[in-house]
Amino acid sequence: MPRRANGGKSSGPKGSNNGQSNGNGIIKKSPVQMLYDLCVETFSPHGTLPTPEAIEKLRSFLDTIKPSDLGLKEVASVQDVSSTPVGRPTMRKGKGRRPVNKGPVNKGAEFAPPITYLHVYECDSFSIGIFCLPKSGVLPLHNHPGMTVLSKILYGSMHIKSYDCVELPQDIQHISDPPQSILAKKKVNTVYSSPCEPSILCPRTGGNIHSFTAVTSCAVLDVLAPPYSDKDGRHCTYYRDYPYSRQPGLSENGNACDDEQSYVWLEEIERPDDFFVKGGQYMGPRIEP
Ligand SMILES: [Fe+2]
Repeated sequence: MPRRANGGKSSGPKGSNNGQSNGNGIIKKSPVQMLYDLCVETFSPHGTLPTPEAIEKLRSFLDTIKPSDLGLKEVASVQDVSSTPVGRPTMRKGKGRRPVNKGPVNKGAEFAPPITYLHVYECDSFSIGIFCLPKSGVLPLHNHPGMTVLSKILYGSMHIKSYDCVELPQDIQHISDPPQSILAKKKVNTVYSSPCEPSILCPRTGGNIHSFTAVTSCAVLDVLAPPYSDKDGRHCTYYRDYPYSRQPGLSENGNACDDEQSYVWLEEIERPDDFFVKGGQYMGPRIEP
């Protein structure tokens, strides 16, 4: 059993049931409890990489989760979840300098409709949470260092863009444009609509740097393993992407630059000023660790 953070409690409402009786007196576990149990099985002991088979099993189960299993309406908006002015600091400014929800409370309203984060559960091994995006809401390009991420769109449509970093020989890194940028390869640049299969990002592959732009009001259920952690060096870093154009001398390490359209430069940036996430109250069944 992983050690519990934040008291190890899920943020379900007090008194909510973990499951339902099937009429024979047997308590049937709620889907979110089953998700938790499978995450424990998949990501324990802490620090070990799960097998592809275990990840696929988790993805298959995640695919069965419905908005109602999490206390969400099928088509919700940011008004459909009760919000609190101070929530869990999930995403941070570049290099992790400032928890996002320690900024001015009304900052989101000043720029764009805020995104709401519903914290479901977190321990050292994994976290479960839901991002609710209003139409046109944007989760800017960010990374997941050393993390496995499974994401399930619960409702709505979103444009997902994702990249993987490309390793360059040390002697040609200085000619990146803009300077100090990293070369990355596009993995996904597509609109996804519910229902669709959950996506999987691996620590170095699968589009570990990604952005979400809400085409409609939408919500995505995220499982992060392990979670972001300052003390363990897993900071959330933000990026801006620039078109890649081939430079003299960069052609050809043979493994990267065969298709210019597939590559971009990623420049590390501070957390965008118009990006604001507020904490909301998870209203689904409580998880019992
Ligand atoms: Fe992400």
